[in-house]
Amino acid sequence: MNKLTLSALLLGMSSLVTYPAVAGTPTVSESGSFEQKTGEDLFNSICQGCHMEGGKGVNTGAGFYPALANNPRLSAAGYPIFILLNGLGGMPSFKHYLSDEQIVEVVNYIRTNLGNDYPEKTTLEEVKSMSNR
Ligand code: HEC
Repeated sequence: MNKLTLSALLLGMSSLVTYPAVAGTPTVSESGSFEQKTGEDLFNSICQGCHMEGGKGVNTGAGFYPALANNPRLSAAGYPIFILLNGLGGMPSFKHYLSDEQIVEVVNYIRTNLGNDYPEKTTLEEVKSMSNR
């Protein structure tokens, strides 16, 4: 199967989207979806490219990529779910690239790793109620 690089995908999504530093080349399938299934793999393949290793964030001057590490805004799962579905500023929407199941996994991962300890997991129902699909 042919692989596209994530940067090519993101370029297709918006010419304004740039990676501060690309660590590795995540792969997506021909359909334009990410193949990774676990929250950890999704984080490492997608989010880390902008939010940096361990989600520590970075401010390049040209772009600010907030830390997901130790981030109290993750206390409510609805916040990262909303951003993944709708995008926010320099962060593109991933609605058409991640399934609801993948969103559940990556949200549960970032809320219970990277120094965050919000053990109440989000559910497929919660994500579905927000994605309307
Ligand atoms: C192309 C770069 C890029 C990628 C890839 C990316 N983000 Fe972001 N993200 C951003 C930027 C830039 C912001 C800040 C947006 C703003 O505040 O205007 C942000 C903001 C966020 C926030 C809000 C943080 C806060 O403190 O308010 C969350 C949560 C988040 N991203 C989660 C994720 C997750 C989970 C992934 C992986 C599935 C991801 N992001 C992938 C660029 C990215």
